[in-house]
Amino acid sequence: MTISYEVTPPVVAVKDVDLTLYRGEILGLAGESGCGKTTLAYGMNRLLKPPALLRSGEVTLHEKDGDIDVVALKGDELRRFRWDKVSMVFQGAMNALNPVISVKAQLFDVFSTHRPEMSRSEKRAVSEELLELVGVDKNRLTSYAHELSGGMRQRVMIAMALALRPQVMIMDEPTTALDVVVQREILREIMRLREQFNFAVIFITHDLPMLLEISDRIAIMKDGAIVEVNTAHNIYSAPQHEYTKQLLSSFPSLLGERGGFVRTGAGGGSDES
Ligand SMILES: Nc1ncnc2c1ncn2[C@@H]1O[C@H](COP(=O)(O)OP(=O)(O)OP(=O)(O)O)[C@@H](O)[C@H]1O
Ligand SMILES: [Mg+2]
Repeated sequence: MTISYEVTPPVVAVKDVDLTLYRGEILGLAGESGCGKTTLAYGMNRLLKPPALLRSGEVTLHEKDGDIDVVALKGDELRRFRWDKVSMVFQGAMNALNPVISVKAQLFDVFSTHRPEMSRSEKRAVSEELLELVGVDKNRLTSYAHELSGGMRQRVMIAMALALRPQVMIMDEPTTALDVVVQREILREIMRLREQFNFAVIFITHDLPMLLEISDRIAIMKDGAIVEVNTAHNIYSAPQHEYTKQLLSSFPSLLGERGGFVRTGAGGGSDES
């Protein structure tokens, strides 16, 4: 996939990237600011807006009953695909909740668009269940964004991304703006939900040590290209690319005893998704 921003002069933000996400796996995507992580994620989910242009490439979702050619989707098909099959927790999502409508109205919106057959009471029951799944009290359904802490807002965004039980969740720096303790709690929550619902995750962050803990595989991106993809273990113990080595050595905590990191909750996937 190649994506450019048609400004003057044009910026080629994603250069000939080829990436496979396996069913149920956690794929970490790391790289410096501006290397094209968000642009790639938007490209996969057909969220690019002008001046961004998908210059070439294909995106295929392999489903049990056939392949979906994501680039060819239009109108209703595309709307259904976006939240039903692949959902996204946006970068800065903590501030992405609509400030003037309640959490309930925002969750109900997702269901009204994608599950028009659901009754109000069903929507309510499922919304309450979703909040509890992400560790937010169901009484918070009637709250507005400003009444919630940053961590709670982020949990609500995750609940929304989970609402339709997608196969793939793209999380673009979902915990970056949170303090370390809340980050950990939310990460644990994401890992638990993934075990429970078995969706695949593309987890985007600058935080390579965190990716080493949670990912099955890690892709390292630099200047719009993926320079290395490998299992988390190999990225850590046998990095191939110079940039990967630099990235690893830029985290002081990794300079201690090697091989000592703890991986949690990451199961291996095998089928392509
Ligand atoms: N709307 C835009 N117009 C022009 N160039 C853009 C636009 N959005 C992004 N870019 C450029 O595309 C490149 C990739 O940006 P992108 O936001 O995908 O990077 P990123 O890896 O997600 O960075 P970060 O870690 O800071 O979120 C950068 O060079 C950026 O300046
Ligand atoms: Mg980004």
